[in-house]
Amino acid sequence: MTLLAGLRLDHPVLNASGTLDAIAARDVLGDATLGAAAHVTKTIFPDARPGNPSPRIAETAGGMLNSIGLPGPGIAAFIDDVLPRTRTCVGVTPVIVSIGGESVSDYERLAALLDGVPGVAALELNLSCPNIESGCISIGADVAETLLVTRRVRATTALPLLVKLSPSVSDIVALAAAAVDGGADAVTLTNTARGLAVRVDTGRSVLGGPGGGLSGPPLRPLALAAVYAVRVALGVDIVGVGGVDSLATAAELLAAGATAVAVGTATFRDPTTISRIAAALAPPTSIEAR
Ligand SMILES: Cc1cc2nc3c(=O)[nH]c(=O)nc-3n(C[C@H](O)[C@H](O)[C@H](O)COP(=O)(O)O)c2cc1C
Repeated sequence: MTLLAGLRLDHPVLNASGTLDAIAARDVLGDATLGAAAHVTKTIFPDARPGNPSPRIAETAGGMLNSIGLPGPGIAAFIDDVLPRTRTCVGVTPVIVSIGGESVSDYERLAALLDGVPGVAALELNLSCPNIESGCISIGADVAETLLVTRRVRATTALPLLVKLSPSVSDIVALAAAAVDGGADAVTLTNTARGLAVRVDTGRSVLGGPGGGLSGPPLRPLALAAVYAVRVALGVDIVGVGGVDSLATAAELLAAGATAVAVGTATFRDPTTISRIAAALAPPTSIEAR
């Protein structure tokens, strides 16, 4: 049993937001479960968003760059349609809803709308979103804004709160501390790192959007460093995310201080990665219990 942000989970392996769509995965896996101890949804915004122009993903040495641009149907369609269908697919698995916004009030509004919706076990605040109100590149890059948004969401809902941070910041410990001060029950470390793949003939980005987010094994040392630094500095639950693709790499993040790990890019290659790692982490059944 793993206790994460007050949630009692069967094991410490989750899916990473936005990488494995439970509804689409049904087509690939049939009735087999994804295996995540809690299912984290793709980040949802107040209004529908089209996302970035294609191409949206590009392979890079050992990993991947994406510029998906957080497309989605908006919160009303999410609550009416996506969430119930997701719950059908994941069964009794607790659902953690990832929320995003362009202002502090967006996050507050989403938290209020999701509070009390059946099947929502916790919220994850994706703070790697541009803040239109203050002109800040990302709420999660600014200590004061991170504190403010977490505090305002905390005052809006009693649901367990996870705050997800970017590794492309100058002081991850100060940002995690701000989230904890604001009332976060756990921090998720990390989102993708800012990256770029460039076309030599045009000098432009290979991807349709401006730059991209680096994920997969090249992100792992950054995630490990963030988890370790936050674990040493703060006594807070941590979801370690970045390049987990095997029992060994999950064990590294757990050894660095993560309470649980989440798997993203590896599921593009093999959607059974989460269940394989979870099974490998499970304590062997004792002879008496068999
Ligand atoms: C295609 C893609 C889409 C993603 N969408 C989201 C998202 O909607 N919200 C979010 O918080 N993180 C999103 N992420 C980041 C992942 O959740 C994760 O933090 C990151 O990919 C690092 O983990 P990994 O190396 O296991 O992929 C996305 C990553 C990828 C590759």
